[in-house]
Amino acid sequence: MDMIDKFMHAVLSITFFVFFLHYRLFTSLVATARSLFKENVSGKVVLITGASSGIGEHVAYEYARRGACLAVVARREHRLRQVAAVCEIIGSPEVVYIVGDVAKMEDCQQFVEATVSYFGHLDHLVTNAGVTPVCMFQDYDDITKASPAMEINFWGSVYSTYYAYGHLKKSKGKIIVIASSTGWLFAPRLSFYSVEISVMPLESACECGKAMVAGSCRGDNYLTVPHWYEWTKLWKVFCPGIMDRWIGFLLMPCNSHNEVPTKKLTHFVNGLTQFLSS
Ligand SMILES: NC(=O)c1ccc[n+]([C@@H]2O[C@H](COP(=O)([O-])OP(=O)(O)OC[C@H]3O[C@@H](n4cnc5c(N)ncnc54)[C@H](OP(=O)(O)O)[C@@H]3O)[C@@H](O)[C@H]2O)c1
Ligand SMILES: *[C@@H]1O[C@H](CO)[C@@H](O)[C@H](O)[C@H]1NC(C)=O
Repeated sequence: MDMIDKFMHAVLSITFFVFFLHYRLFTSLVATARSLFKENVSGKVVLITGASSGIGEHVAYEYARRGACLAVVARREHRLRQVAAVCEIIGSPEVVYIVGDVAKMEDCQQFVEATVSYFGHLDHLVTNAGVTPVCMFQDYDDITKASPAMEINFWGSVYSTYYAYGHLKKSKGKIIVIASSTGWLFAPRLSFYSVEISVMPLESACECGKAMVAGSCRGDNYLTVPHWYEWTKLWKVFCPGIMDRWIGFLLMPCNSHNEVPTKKLTHFVNGLTQFLSS
Protein backbone atom coordinates (compact mmCIF):
# COMPACT_ATOMS: atom_id res chain seq x y z
CA MET A 1 0.00 0.00 0.00
CA ASP A 2 2.83 2.33 0.90
CA MET A 3 4.41 1.84 -2.53
CA ILE A 4 1.11 2.51 -4.29
CA ASP A 5 0.59 5.61 -2.21
CA LYS A 6 4.06 6.98 -3.05
CA PHE A 7 3.64 6.11 -6.71
CA MET A 8 0.26 7.81 -6.99
CA HIS A 9 1.55 10.83 -5.14
CA ALA A 10 4.48 11.21 -7.54
CA VAL A 11 2.44 10.59 -10.68
CA LEU A 12 -0.37 12.96 -9.75
CA SER A 13 1.88 15.80 -8.58
CA ILE A 14 4.13 15.66 -11.65
CA THR A 15 1.28 15.35 -14.14
CA PHE A 16 -0.52 18.17 -12.37
CA PHE A 17 2.34 20.64 -12.82
CA VAL A 18 2.90 19.65 -16.44
CA PHE A 19 -0.83 19.73 -17.13
CA PHE A 20 -1.42 22.96 -15.24
CA LEU A 21 0.96 25.06 -17.34
CA HIS A 22 -0.51 23.77 -20.59
CA TYR A 23 -4.02 24.18 -19.27
CA ARG A 24 -3.40 27.86 -18.40
CA LEU A 25 -2.03 28.45 -21.86
CA PHE A 26 -5.00 26.68 -23.42
CA THR A 27 -7.59 28.62 -21.39
CA SER A 28 -6.04 31.97 -22.27
CA LEU A 29 -6.14 31.03 -25.95
CA VAL A 30 -9.78 29.98 -25.61
CA ALA A 31 -10.60 33.28 -23.86
CA THR A 32 -8.99 35.23 -26.72
CA ALA A 33 -10.92 33.21 -29.29
CA ARG A 34 -14.16 33.70 -27.39
CA SER A 35 -13.81 37.46 -27.31
CA LEU A 36 -13.93 37.38 -31.12
CA PHE A 37 -17.35 35.69 -31.02
CA LYS A 38 -18.90 37.38 -28.02
CA GLU A 39 -22.64 37.43 -27.53
CA ASN A 40 -24.54 40.47 -28.70
CA VAL A 41 -27.05 41.15 -25.92
CA SER A 42 -28.85 43.93 -27.76
CA GLY A 43 -32.59 43.27 -27.43
CA LYS A 44 -32.03 40.25 -25.14
CA VAL A 45 -33.90 39.95 -21.86
CA VAL A 46 -31.84 40.07 -18.66
CA LEU A 47 -33.16 39.64 -15.12
CA ILE A 48 -30.89 40.98 -12.36
CA THR A 49 -31.51 40.45 -8.64
CA GLY A 50 -30.15 42.99 -6.18
CA ALA A 51 -29.97 45.67 -8.86
CA SER A 52 -30.91 48.59 -6.58
CA SER A 53 -27.30 49.32 -5.55
CA GLY A 54 -23.67 48.23 -5.72
CA ILE A 55 -22.47 45.64 -8.20
CA GLY A 56 -25.98 44.66 -9.36
CA GLU A 57 -26.78 48.28 -10.22
CA HIS A 58 -23.63 48.55 -12.34
CA VAL A 59 -24.22 45.20 -14.01
CA ALA A 60 -27.63 46.63 -15.00
CA TYR A 61 -25.99 49.78 -16.42
CA GLU A 62 -23.53 47.73 -18.47
CA TYR A 63 -26.26 45.52 -19.93
CA ALA A 64 -28.25 48.70 -20.63
CA ARG A 65 -25.30 50.25 -22.49
CA ARG A 66 -25.24 47.12 -24.64
CA GLY A 67 -28.94 47.54 -25.45
CA ALA A 68 -30.44 44.70 -23.39
CA CYS A 69 -34.03 44.76 -22.09
CA LEU A 70 -33.96 44.57 -18.30
CA ALA A 71 -35.96 43.36 -15.33
CA VAL A 72 -34.38 44.72 -12.16
CA VAL A 73 -35.31 43.21 -8.81
CA ALA A 74 -34.66 44.25 -5.17
CA ARG A 75 -36.60 45.30 -2.06
CA ARG A 76 -36.14 49.10 -2.25
CA GLU A 77 -38.62 50.38 -4.80
CA HIS A 78 -37.40 54.00 -4.90
CA ARG A 79 -33.84 52.88 -5.73
CA LEU A 80 -35.07 50.46 -8.40
CA ARG A 81 -37.10 53.22 -10.02
CA GLN A 82 -33.97 55.41 -10.24
CA VAL A 83 -31.82 52.58 -11.61
CA ALA A 84 -34.48 51.72 -14.20
CA ALA A 85 -34.68 55.36 -15.33
CA VAL A 86 -30.88 55.57 -15.78
CA CYS A 87 -30.86 52.26 -17.70
CA GLU A 88 -33.39 53.62 -20.18
CA ILE A 89 -31.40 56.81 -20.66
CA ILE A 90 -28.14 55.00 -21.37
CA GLY A 91 -29.49 52.53 -23.90
CA SER A 92 -31.90 49.91 -22.64
CA PRO A 93 -34.97 49.71 -24.94
CA GLU A 94 -37.23 48.65 -22.07
CA VAL A 95 -36.82 48.24 -18.31
CA VAL A 96 -39.23 46.87 -15.74
CA TYR A 97 -38.57 47.01 -12.04
CA ILE A 98 -40.06 44.43 -9.73
CA VAL A 99 -40.03 44.71 -5.96
CA GLY A 100 -39.17 41.34 -4.46
CA ASP A 101 -37.30 39.57 -1.68
CA VAL A 102 -35.14 36.72 -2.97
CA ALA A 103 -35.32 35.03 0.43
CA LYS A 104 -39.00 34.34 -0.32
CA MET A 105 -39.63 31.52 -2.74
CA GLU A 106 -42.98 32.95 -3.88
CA ASP A 107 -41.35 36.31 -4.68
CA CYS A 108 -38.76 34.57 -6.86
CA GLN A 109 -41.46 32.72 -8.75
CA GLN A 110 -43.41 35.94 -9.14
CA PHE A 111 -40.54 38.10 -10.47
CA VAL A 112 -39.42 35.43 -12.95
CA GLU A 113 -42.97 34.91 -14.22
CA ALA A 114 -43.61 38.67 -14.39
CA THR A 115 -40.45 39.14 -16.47
CA VAL A 116 -41.34 36.34 -18.89
CA SER A 117 -44.95 37.43 -19.27
CA TYR A 118 -43.81 41.01 -19.96
CA PHE A 119 -40.98 40.30 -22.41
CA GLY A 120 -42.05 36.87 -23.67
CA HIS A 121 -38.81 35.10 -22.76
CA LEU A 122 -35.65 35.29 -20.65
CA ASP A 123 -32.03 35.17 -21.87
CA HIS A 124 -29.80 35.89 -18.84
CA LEU A 125 -30.39 35.55 -15.13
CA VAL A 126 -27.92 37.40 -12.88
CA THR A 127 -28.20 36.19 -9.28
CA ASN A 128 -26.47 38.99 -7.44
CA ALA A 129 -28.67 39.90 -4.44
CA GLY A 130 -26.67 39.41 -1.27
CA VAL A 131 -25.85 40.73 2.16
CA THR A 132 -22.51 40.72 4.01
CA PRO A 133 -22.94 40.16 7.74
CA VAL A 134 -19.73 41.13 9.54
CA CYS A 135 -19.57 39.58 13.00
CA MET A 136 -17.26 37.29 14.97
CA PHE A 137 -18.95 33.94 15.45
CA GLN A 138 -18.69 34.17 19.24
CA ASP A 139 -20.31 37.64 19.21
CA TYR A 140 -23.66 36.38 17.96
CA ASP A 141 -25.96 36.65 20.98
CA ASP A 142 -28.72 35.03 18.94
CA ILE A 143 -27.64 32.60 16.23
CA THR A 144 -30.86 33.06 14.24
CA LYS A 145 -29.51 36.54 13.34
CA ALA A 146 -27.08 34.73 11.05
CA SER A 147 -29.76 33.02 8.98
CA PRO A 148 -30.65 35.87 6.55
CA ALA A 149 -27.21 35.50 4.96
CA MET A 150 -28.04 31.92 4.00
CA GLU A 151 -31.65 32.76 3.09
CA ILE A 152 -30.64 35.63 0.81
CA ASN A 153 -27.17 34.75 -0.53
CA PHE A 154 -27.64 31.02 -0.86
CA TRP A 155 -31.35 30.20 -1.10
CA GLY A 156 -32.09 33.45 -2.96
CA SER A 157 -29.82 32.29 -5.79
CA VAL A 158 -31.22 28.76 -5.69
CA TYR A 159 -34.89 29.89 -5.81
CA SER A 160 -34.30 32.38 -8.63
CA THR A 161 -32.42 29.77 -10.65
CA TYR A 162 -35.09 27.15 -9.98
CA TYR A 163 -37.90 29.29 -11.41
CA ALA A 164 -35.83 30.72 -14.28
CA TYR A 165 -34.26 27.43 -15.35
CA GLY A 166 -37.00 26.25 -17.71
CA HIS A 167 -37.16 29.63 -19.47
CA LEU A 168 -33.37 29.80 -19.80
CA LYS A 169 -33.24 26.31 -21.22
CA LYS A 170 -35.78 27.29 -23.85
CA SER A 171 -33.78 30.36 -24.89
CA LYS A 172 -30.39 28.59 -24.49
CA GLY A 173 -29.68 31.37 -22.02
CA LYS A 174 -27.15 31.92 -19.27
CA ILE A 175 -27.01 32.05 -15.50
CA ILE A 176 -24.50 34.51 -14.06
CA VAL A 177 -23.80 33.88 -10.40
CA ILE A 178 -22.06 36.64 -8.46
CA ALA A 179 -20.03 35.00 -5.73
CA SER A 180 -17.15 36.10 -3.55
CA SER A 181 -13.49 35.27 -3.04
CA THR A 182 -14.32 34.56 0.60
CA GLY A 183 -15.53 31.21 -0.76
CA TRP A 184 -11.88 30.16 -0.82
CA LEU A 185 -10.28 32.82 1.35
CA PHE A 186 -12.09 32.29 4.62
CA ALA A 187 -12.00 35.53 6.52
CA PRO A 188 -12.58 36.21 10.19
CA ARG A 189 -15.92 37.88 11.02
CA LEU A 190 -17.43 36.59 7.77
CA SER A 191 -18.22 33.06 8.94
CA PHE A 192 -21.70 32.84 7.50
CA TYR A 193 -20.81 34.75 4.39
CA SER A 194 -17.89 32.47 3.52
CA VAL A 195 -19.85 29.25 3.70
CA GLU A 196 -21.62 30.09 0.52
CA ILE A 197 -19.55 31.74 -1.71
CA SER A 198 -14.87 40.86 -0.16
CA VAL A 199 -13.93 42.57 2.20
CA MET A 200 -11.41 44.97 0.80
CA PRO A 201 -12.63 47.35 -1.90
CA LEU A 202 -10.24 46.02 -4.52
CA GLU A 203 -12.24 47.17 -7.52
CA SER A 204 -15.07 49.67 -7.99
CA ALA A 205 -18.62 48.34 -8.43
CA CYS A 206 -18.65 50.04 -11.83
CA GLU A 207 -15.52 48.23 -13.06
CA CYS A 208 -16.84 44.95 -11.59
CA GLY A 209 -20.12 45.39 -13.44
CA LYS A 210 -18.36 46.06 -16.76
CA ALA A 211 -16.01 43.10 -16.35
CA MET A 212 -18.84 40.75 -15.37
CA VAL A 213 -21.04 41.60 -18.34
CA ALA A 214 -18.04 41.33 -20.69
CA GLY A 215 -17.28 37.90 -19.18
CA SER A 216 -20.88 36.81 -19.57
CA CYS A 217 -20.94 37.88 -23.23
CA ARG A 218 -17.66 36.03 -23.88
CA GLY A 219 -19.16 32.95 -22.25
CA ASP A 220 -16.51 32.63 -19.52
CA ASN A 221 -17.25 29.82 -17.10
CA TYR A 222 -15.41 31.59 -14.30
CA LEU A 223 -14.32 35.17 -13.90
CA THR A 224 -12.40 36.73 -11.03
CA VAL A 225 -12.42 40.50 -10.62
CA PRO A 226 -9.84 41.93 -10.15
CA HIS A 227 -8.04 39.40 -12.31
CA TRP A 228 -4.91 39.09 -10.15
CA TYR A 229 -7.05 37.79 -7.30
CA GLU A 230 -7.23 34.47 -9.13
CA TRP A 231 -3.66 33.75 -7.95
CA THR A 232 -4.89 33.69 -4.37
CA LYS A 233 -6.68 30.43 -5.24
CA LEU A 234 -3.30 28.79 -5.88
CA TRP A 235 -1.84 30.30 -2.72
CA LYS A 236 -4.78 28.95 -0.80
CA VAL A 237 -4.36 25.46 -2.26
CA PHE A 238 -0.58 25.19 -1.90
CA CYS A 239 0.05 27.28 1.22
CA PRO A 240 -3.27 27.27 3.13
CA GLY A 241 -1.63 28.02 6.49
CA ILE A 242 0.13 31.15 5.22
CA MET A 243 -3.00 32.44 3.50
CA ASP A 244 -5.24 31.92 6.54
CA ARG A 245 -2.78 33.67 8.85
CA TRP A 246 -2.30 36.59 6.48
CA ILE A 247 -6.04 37.18 6.06
CA GLY A 248 -6.56 36.77 9.78
CA PHE A 249 -3.89 39.38 10.40
CA LEU A 250 -5.43 41.82 7.90
CA LEU A 251 -8.99 41.51 9.13
CA MET A 252 -8.84 40.99 12.86
CA PRO A 253 -9.38 44.08 15.03
CA CYS A 254 -6.02 45.10 16.47
CA ASN A 255 -7.22 47.55 19.13
CA SER A 256 -10.16 48.39 21.36
CA HIS A 257 -11.72 50.64 18.67
CA ASN A 258 -12.36 47.56 16.55
CA GLU A 259 -9.99 48.89 13.91
CA VAL A 260 -8.55 46.35 11.52
CA PRO A 261 -5.10 46.69 9.89
CA THR A 262 -6.66 46.93 6.41
CA LYS A 263 -8.56 50.06 7.52
CA LYS A 264 -5.36 51.63 8.81
CA LEU A 265 -3.60 50.69 5.61
CA THR A 266 -6.38 52.27 3.53
CA HIS A 267 -6.18 55.48 5.60
CA PHE A 268 -2.44 55.53 5.15
CA VAL A 269 -2.63 55.02 1.36
CA ASN A 270 -5.40 57.64 1.02
CA GLY A 271 -3.36 60.13 3.07
CA LEU A 272 -0.26 59.47 1.01
CA THR A 273 -2.18 59.85 -2.27
CA GLN A 274 -3.66 63.16 -1.08
CA PHE A 275 -0.25 64.38 0.06
CA LEU A 276 1.40 63.46 -3.24
CA SER A 277 -1.37 65.01 -5.35
CA SER A 278 -1.42 68.30 -3.38
N1 LIG B 1 -18.78 44.27 -2.20
C1 LIG B 1 -17.87 43.34 -2.31
O1 LIG B 1 -16.69 43.52 -1.99
C2 LIG B 1 -18.24 42.00 -2.89
C3 LIG B 1 -17.22 41.13 -3.20
C4 LIG B 1 -17.52 39.90 -3.73
C5 LIG B 1 -18.84 39.54 -3.94
N2 LIG B 1 -19.83 40.39 -3.63
C6 LIG B 1 -21.20 39.95 -3.89
O2 LIG B 1 -21.78 40.81 -4.82
C7 LIG B 1 -23.18 40.89 -4.59
C8 LIG B 1 -23.60 42.35 -4.47
O3 LIG B 1 -22.88 42.93 -3.43
P1 LIG B 1 -22.71 44.49 -3.27
O4 LIG B 1 -21.38 44.71 -2.64
O5 LIG B 1 -23.02 45.17 -4.53
O6 LIG B 1 -23.78 44.78 -2.13
P2 LIG B 1 -24.87 45.95 -1.96
O7 LIG B 1 -24.36 47.22 -2.52
O8 LIG B 1 -25.28 45.91 -0.54
O9 LIG B 1 -26.05 45.44 -2.88
C9 LIG B 1 -26.78 44.32 -2.54
C10 LIG B 1 -28.01 44.29 -3.40
O10 LIG B 1 -28.75 43.13 -3.05
C11 LIG B 1 -30.07 43.53 -2.76
N3 LIG B 1 -30.66 42.65 -1.77
C12 LIG B 1 -30.22 42.39 -0.51
N4 LIG B 1 -31.06 41.54 0.11
C13 LIG B 1 -32.04 41.25 -0.78
C14 LIG B 1 -33.21 40.45 -0.73
N5 LIG B 1 -33.52 39.75 0.36
N6 LIG B 1 -33.98 40.38 -1.84
C15 LIG B 1 -33.69 41.09 -2.94
N7 LIG B 1 -32.61 41.87 -3.04
C16 LIG B 1 -31.80 41.96 -1.98
C17 LIG B 1 -29.97 44.96 -2.27
O11 LIG B 1 -31.17 45.67 -2.53
P3 LIG B 1 -32.36 45.94 -1.47
O12 LIG B 1 -31.70 46.24 -0.16
O13 LIG B 1 -33.07 47.09 -2.09
O14 LIG B 1 -33.17 44.70 -1.46
C18 LIG B 1 -28.90 45.50 -3.18
O15 LIG B 1 -29.43 45.89 -4.42
C19 LIG B 1 -23.45 40.10 -3.32
O16 LIG B 1 -23.95 38.84 -3.67
C20 LIG B 1 -22.10 39.98 -2.69
O17 LIG B 1 -22.00 38.79 -1.96
C21 LIG B 1 -19.55 41.63 -3.13
C1 LIG C 1 -26.33 43.51 -32.20
O1 LIG C 1 -27.64 43.16 -32.57
C2 LIG C 1 -28.43 44.29 -32.97
C3 LIG C 1 -29.87 43.83 -33.21
O2 LIG C 1 -30.13 42.55 -32.87
C4 LIG C 1 -27.82 44.92 -34.19
O3 LIG C 1 -28.59 46.05 -34.58
C5 LIG C 1 -26.41 45.37 -33.86
O4 LIG C 1 -25.78 45.88 -35.04
C6 LIG C 1 -25.59 44.19 -33.34
N1 LIG C 1 -24.30 44.69 -32.89
C7 LIG C 1 -23.15 44.10 -33.19
C8 LIG C 1 -21.93 44.72 -32.63
O5 LIG C 1 -23.10 43.09 -33.88
